[in-house]
Amino acid sequence: MSTPLVALTDIKKKFGAVTALRGVTVDVMPGETFALLGDNAAGKSTLMKVLTGVHQPDHGTIEWEGEKVTFPTPAISRTRGIEMIYQDFALADNLDVRTNVFLGREPKKNLLGIPGLRIVDTKHMERETRRVLDSLDIEINPRLKVRRLSGGQRQSVAIGRALAFDAKLIIMDEPTASLSVAKVDKLIEVTQRLKELGIAVIIITHRLDEAFAVADRLAVMRQGEVVGRFEVNEVSEHQVANLISHGTMGDAVLGHHPGERRSIGSTLSADQPGSPQKPMGANEE
Ligand SMILES: Nc1ncnc2c1ncn2[C@@H]1O[C@H](COP(=O)(O)OP(=O)(O)O)[C@@H](O)[C@H]1O
Ligand SMILES: [Mg+2]
Repeated sequence: MSTPLVALTDIKKKFGAVTALRGVTVDVMPGETFALLGDNAAGKSTLMKVLTGVHQPDHGTIEWEGEKVTFPTPAISRTRGIEMIYQDFALADNLDVRTNVFLGREPKKNLLGIPGLRIVDTKHMERETRRVLDSLDIEINPRLKVRRLSGGQRQSVAIGRALAFDAKLIIMDEPTASLSVAKVDKLIEVTQRLKELGIAVIIITHRLDEAFAVADRLAVMRQGEVVGRFEVNEVSEHQVANLISHGTMGDAVLGHHPGERRSIGSTLSADQPGSPQKPMGANEE
């Protein structure tokens, strides 16, 4: 279990004059739930877009299951098992749940054995949709039009879609931004379920309670850099909150050395930024 599912190394990305990523190194183990935290404009979404092939990095490497890869398009990263859940869930309102689960990848079957006459296999779509929603403990009628679903249910459909295509890594960018408290609880449950199914998750969130509820490890980004990487049980929410907003862990929490303001980025070596954790890939199962 020592090969990461995905390893991003020294990723740099500029948009014109804006440097979005300044050499980011992050890895995620198979089945791991990983929280990517940081203030607005820290570079979180850009990093995930580099990983999924929406953007090409200016510098750095991506390894997938130990093999160096390039993802020229999101479609190609999908074929390797990486699914991104977009903020708006990218669903078609006027279509039903099962069709949305298979959107763009509809299974076909031959009609009446006539060569060339192939139709969408709605029975298969419905069966598969029920199977993935069941596996997430989600009850939604596959025949319902998506426009009739709540925000939380839409999200479930988007996650179900990822599962239906054997995702090994599901990326959720700010999944709780538009959800009520009850829906957040459900998402936490679904994320835990994905873990039981052995699917790795990268969750980008502003909500530290949520990150701490689901994640095994977390990384904090600030101004295009990773300023801390931790196992969740070795830091407090308060420390992480300070790191996000000030780039330091904060005196109040470290407490014992009030005079010593610890700047995470500057106290440790550049290639293991702010990382008091074990070396990458060292978490034993
Ligand atoms: N397509 C783009 N073109 C120009 N600048 C961009 C683009 N995408 C992101 N940026 C800039 O890169 C920085 C990081 O953005 P982003 O990755 O969206 O941050 P986060 O997701 O952490 O809020 C920001 O300054 C943002 O304005
Ligand atoms: Mg973002």
